[in-house]
Amino acid sequence: MRPPVQEEVVVLDFGGQYSQLIARRVRECGVFSELVPHHVGPEEVRRRQPKGVILSGGPASVYEDGAPPLDAKLLELGVPVLGICYGMQLLARELGGRVEAAEVGEFGRSQLTVREPGRLLAGTPPEQSCWMSHRDTVFSPPAGCTALASSTASPVAAFECSERGLYGIQFHPEVVHTPYGQQVLTNFLEDVCGCERSWSPSSVIDEQIERIRAQVGDGRAICGLSGGVDSSVAALLVHRAIGERLTCVFVDHGFMRKDEGAQVISAFRDHFHVPLVAVDASERFLARLKGVTDPEEKRKRIGSEFIRVFEEEAAKLDDVRFLVQGTLYSDVIESGGGTGAATIKSHHNVGGLPDDLEFELVEPLRTLFKDEVRAVGAELGLPERLVWRQPFPGPGLAIRIVGGEATRERLEILREADAILQDEIRRAGLYRELWQSFCVLPDIRTVGVQGDARTYGNVIVIRAVTSDDAMTADWARLPYDLLEQIASRMTGEIRPVGRVVLDITSKPPGTIEWE
Ligand code: XMP
Repeated sequence: MRPPVQEEVVVLDFGGQYSQLIARRVRECGVFSELVPHHVGPEEVRRRQPKGVILSGGPASVYEDGAPPLDAKLLELGVPVLGICYGMQLLARELGGRVEAAEVGEFGRSQLTVREPGRLLAGTPPEQSCWMSHRDTVFSPPAGCTALASSTASPVAAFECSERGLYGIQFHPEVVHTPYGQQVLTNFLEDVCGCERSWSPSSVIDEQIERIRAQVGDGRAICGLSGGVDSSVAALLVHRAIGERLTCVFVDHGFMRKDEGAQVISAFRDHFHVPLVAVDASERFLARLKGVTDPEEKRKRIGSEFIRVFEEEAAKLDDVRFLVQGTLYSDVIESGGGTGAATIKSHHNVGGLPDDLEFELVEPLRTLFKDEVRAVGAELGLPERLVWRQPFPGPGLAIRIVGGEATRERLEILREADAILQDEIRRAGLYRELWQSFCVLPDIRTVGVQGDARTYGNVIVIRAVTSDDAMTADWARLPYDLLEQIASRMTGEIRPVGRVVLDITSKPPGTIEWE
């Protein structure tokens, strides 16, 4: 069965740092959008039958040798084209406008003066601020195009030729520092491209269910559930599509947080009635980590043991040909697979299975960003706790016992401390604001005093960060009163804990995890 046709706007990626963001903003306007490498060629773009094409920014100068070129055939597809920054300069040069390096570049906030709003800038004020990041500048618009606006350093900061459906803007409409950016994108999508704006993350549910049915036919599938939002949503979608022919496998390696395993089991087995094999493999994993203190060795051993357990369980099931993976759109883009190549997320992830497993992959989230996956999860009825779960590393608590062996006793201390932290952060209403919040247990003891006796207890480190993508992070400014409450509960309720400290390192120079 052919999946329903949907409106799409293609973003051709010329390497700009905001290219992904353009696709996200277009989707926020209710139009499905994919990022495609600039070199795919006009035929590939035509094949997608887009309602519009956006040329992204990029780091090159249009005059440089080897700068990514614009294929002029793209302008003859009969589809409106919007060039942003480098994309605009390519367009201007191709059409015979004057593009040159300006004496001064324009970086950061800038003032835009709109002389003639045209279609693209309609409904935006004559004076507005915008975000710029360029050195080359368009000095005169191509013949037949109208210059719409200028800025301090850009004589032509926007132009259009509405008869030919060609539009260019020097500024970045996709960043929050351009307050009318979304309006400009909406003008392009709605007025220029004629999009209906009916796409939403939840509108992909029906489409994906059809796709999964078409791919799997009457076959059987298996899915490794980690408790994270990606694998949970992928599993639910596939379960909706093929029902009992999906079996989920949840490997509890013993490094989960308090009650986490039970929550996953109860949501999937009891609530959604998904066939679920839950394996308590904690003894095996603990045995494999005996005497191991090196972080990479821990990761390696946990990873290989995970695969072993998963394969053993898979072998017990008959006839399974398909493996469900929660690969996200950002993974697809990062691995350069935007044109449809199958890739397996392997980024130091314990859930990442080797590619010589003899399964065909089912990846129903391949076109979705993380926040869209959460929206789909909520729509499918996934419990709030699973929808909004902060990222949790595959090797779990084992890599948060730092400098020492992950023993059962230490895991117990860390798990209890973590439970208190999560509890207090949720009560304070801060859980969703934080990218991650967790505890670390370093292998050291410090002196303390409790009652009249000296103690020699463990140290718990509180780590809480804000971030958009884990590439960079800032330490979270948790309120002092909250920190006090957390510390006094940890030292009061967990006997071996004698001291609580706060990590105030950002990334860089620190990393989010401690090892
Ligand atoms: P770092 O510590 O490098 O972490 O700043 C960035 C993000 O990756 C997560 N992380 C891991 N995830 N297996 C995983 O699945 C790992 O071994 C691992 N190490 C770090 C970390 O929690 C953060 O979200």
